[in-house]
Amino acid sequence: MTGKKILIAASGSIAAYKIPILVRLCMKAGADVKVVLTPSASTFVSPLVLSTLTKHEVPVEMAAENTWANHVALGRWADVMLIAPASCNTIAKMAHGLCDNLLLSVYLSSTCPVLIAPAMDEDMWHHPATQKNLDTLVSYGHSIIPAEHGELASGLIGMGRMAEPTTLFNQLITFFQESQQLSGYSALVTAGPTFEKLDPVRFIGNYSTGKMGIAIAEALAKKGCNVQLVLGPTHLRASHANITTTNIVSAQQMLEVCSRLFPTMNIAVMSAAVADYTPNEVSTVKIKKKEHDVTLPLKKTVDILKHLGTIKKNNQLLIGFALESNNEKDYALAKLNEKNADAIVLNSLNDAGAGFSYDTNKISIFEKNGKETHYELKTKTDVARDIVEKIIELLG
Ligand code: CTP
Repeated sequence: MTGKKILIAASGSIAAYKIPILVRLCMKAGADVKVVLTPSASTFVSPLVLSTLTKHEVPVEMAAENTWANHVALGRWADVMLIAPASCNTIAKMAHGLCDNLLLSVYLSSTCPVLIAPAMDEDMWHHPATQKNLDTLVSYGHSIIPAEHGELASGLIGMGRMAEPTTLFNQLITFFQESQQLSGYSALVTAGPTFEKLDPVRFIGNYSTGKMGIAIAEALAKKGCNVQLVLGPTHLRASHANITTTNIVSAQQMLEVCSRLFPTMNIAVMSAAVADYTPNEVSTVKIKKKEHDVTLPLKKTVDILKHLGTIKKNNQLLIGFALESNNEKDYALAKLNEKNADAIVLNSLNDAGAGFSYDTNKISIFEKNGKETHYELKTKTDVARDIVEKIIELLG
């Protein structure tokens, strides 16, 4: 942990008394630790103790003695932010973007990965609202360090105890180890649909949301990889400091950006749902309704994956996707060969919960060497992790 910058943010829970122990463990391991508290947390653990241990100020209020606490600087300073203890109230506010104290404004302005260690009483932990809020935070790409079973502040025994300082410390170590696995590597990821313009008000598009590709970009970034995300029109966006996003609209624009970026990349994952055809001509004025039916003349777009397959060097890893509704394996294997990819990730429209707009996906990966791996239905975040593990395996 030498030189790593850890920001610990504690909210109001009795478990805050464990934070000085965690701070000591991190500092002994060589980390630079800063702590921010909610006003409520400062009643459970002394800012003076924490500032003495960390040798940094421990801000609690947005402004103190006419000085504004710079939440943006704190959020950008950290390599990782650990919210511990994360109370039910703070979790709910984080999930919904509320910002009525310093901790929340630091969280909302942070650009680093976020780990969350909940602490609360059992009934609050099991409440559907809390579980839904935790799911929302996972969907933002944050990691939850699960609460544990044990004695609670209420005197009851049950779920909701914050993980022990040693567990939190070990999670931080794992986080830093994992975040190094692909450091020094660069990856190009395409995601989302493309829109092919017909006239000023119409386009040909598809239902892709970009969820899968964004999850892959984030999973690669978490491993320390520098990611260039080429993203089609979608309301979703990626959030990680290692990701640079280029927004495009059409297949031609995606081709131009990918052709420019690919030669310097180690890895390329083409998960975008690229239009195979685009209108022959784009009308500069709105096309008027006719009395009779019309046929739209379309021309083929360039297959970006196939194009990259022709210029790929031996030390580059090229992964494609295949979305199929029938003869899935045969079509996936055909794409693997025709497009000179190293692996094809197949998702079938016949699997319930897989495909566009779902939060889940079910994939199989076919490799050039004949190996195939089949996975269960999982959240797209977990599927992205599986794909990245496969990439690490293929990189050797
Ligand atoms: N792809 C691409 N450029 C295109 C079309 C597809 O890069 N113009 C890529 C996709 O990003 C994906 C793979 O090719 O990685 C397969 O895409 P898919 O839509 O499943 O198949 P197609 O090759 O378009 O063939 P078909 O639509 O006939 O299944």
